[in-house]
Amino acid sequence: MNEKSESYPLCNLDNGAFAPEAALFVVFGATGDLAHRKIFPALFDLFAGDILPRDLIIVGFARKPLDDASYREDLKRSCVKYARRGKFSDRQWESFSNRIFYLASDLDAPAGYSLLADIIAGRDAGFKARAKGRSCPANALFYLAVGPEHFGTIAGRLSEAGLGSAGSGAAGGDAGWEGRKGWRRLVVEKPYGRDGKSALALTAALHNGFAEKDIYRIDHYLGKETVQNLLYLRFANSVFEPVWNRNHIESIDISVFETEGIGERGGYYDSAGAARDMLQNHLIQLMCLTTMEPPASLDPESIRDEKVKVLQSVSRLLPRDILSRSRRGQYVAGRDSEGGQVRAYRDESRVRPDSTTETFVSLRVELDNWRFSGVPIRLSTGKAFASKFSQIVIHFRRPPVALFAAQCGDTLMHNTLTIRIQPDEGVWLRFNAKVPGIPAIKASELRFSYREVADYLPEAYERLIADALAGDSTLFIRADESEHAWRIVDALEAAWASMDAHAAPEQGGLLLYPAGSAVPEFPA
Ligand code: BG6
Repeated sequence: MNEKSESYPLCNLDNGAFAPEAALFVVFGATGDLAHRKIFPALFDLFAGDILPRDLIIVGFARKPLDDASYREDLKRSCVKYARRGKFSDRQWESFSNRIFYLASDLDAPAGYSLLADIIAGRDAGFKARAKGRSCPANALFYLAVGPEHFGTIAGRLSEAGLGSAGSGAAGGDAGWEGRKGWRRLVVEKPYGRDGKSALALTAALHNGFAEKDIYRIDHYLGKETVQNLLYLRFANSVFEPVWNRNHIESIDISVFETEGIGERGGYYDSAGAARDMLQNHLIQLMCLTTMEPPASLDPESIRDEKVKVLQSVSRLLPRDILSRSRRGQYVAGRDSEGGQVRAYRDESRVRPDSTTETFVSLRVELDNWRFSGVPIRLSTGKAFASKFSQIVIHFRRPPVALFAAQCGDTLMHNTLTIRIQPDEGVWLRFNAKVPGIPAIKASELRFSYREVADYLPEAYERLIADALAGDSTLFIRADESEHAWRIVDALEAAWASMDAHAAPEQGGLLLYPAGSAVPEFPA
């Protein structure tokens, strides 16, 4: 940071209203990958950063027979590996982990849920003894880190045990330990269905026990600092908004590319594919934040209402137009950046040998609205490419031909604004400048880098967990957002299904690309 910017005043938006509250934090799928890699390391980092309420009690709920001590040991290994503050003392770990308990139960067995109800109501003497005098908070947050096939069962069982939020008063929930009333919240992970119909069914199943306002659907991209910055960049500045429309913007590119293949996730991925795994949620959310109108206020519903309006304005296209505006691809054997061999997608474990599931997708959409009508927005994502990055690039129109453009033609570059989400988080503005000493023009870049102004960027899961405990749903997906996003992906999937995967890629067939290929560029 330069000296000048250090002297600028800070406008702190924290009005003290944001406060993660103590709760019984129940993790379903407590022994799974997500719990170990993301949820517990984030909880630990929140604890180490003094953000986690001191009275929070965590219960890991899963089938495996484990006791508190061995579960804590497993979690310690994961926190050492995955937590941002992975170097901690035994004392620090002890003071974090003594709030973690393990409950072994089938996800479907009512007994496990009665036990939870007893714990919350303070009726379980055994738990009280294990908790060594800690009192259980009256609030409860249920984190569903399990496949969507279990969402309905868990919500139903919670509701039968009297632990749902719907229908029991404004705060929801029953009187808890020591007779206090508390809230009940449900956090659900993706994938949220595999099409619009199944997403609707999931929502109906969750609404069975929980009011919509108490359901927090995670899209971890929304928890990323650089994604949150989109709102700040657009609406806390006056230079961008006047040019943020079809008069000045020629096209928008939203891209998320990864170098890794699908790893061990074949079982899930092969029945999902890139469109369901990434486009339906992360890329479409980025599009909403990039193109939405200024919300009436910063409250969650105002922001989510604006996102829904964007989704409603996505043009509905005939299948043949969808095919001409999209590409799907799958990686075949190739090489990674170190020259190591990468096996073909079809040779990955738990992938069908003749699978036509896409590991790359690109879709061009347009918004039928006043601001962006006629501006192509390309959404592209893929696995096993040569580079790993996530970014939004706004391509501005060329200057009028008079003066420089008339002489330079295509060598006069468009202005672009790149919002770099990862890995080198920042904002880059490309502009044309005179080359010193000669009458020539060359593009240059102004680069703002987050790493220069901040020592660390919090992990998305830290932010999202803290927000869920604080009851702030801004960064979570509302049911109608998910439904509208599915409409786009359902139409794409239906268009692909109508085409032979062996057809030419321009006609909707599968493009086979060697792992390690350069990120593709398609014409707008
Ligand atoms: C997940 C997808 O939601 O996002 C994964 O299921 C993908 O397939 C991941 O790898 C990418 O997230 P990030 O934060 O690494 O860009």
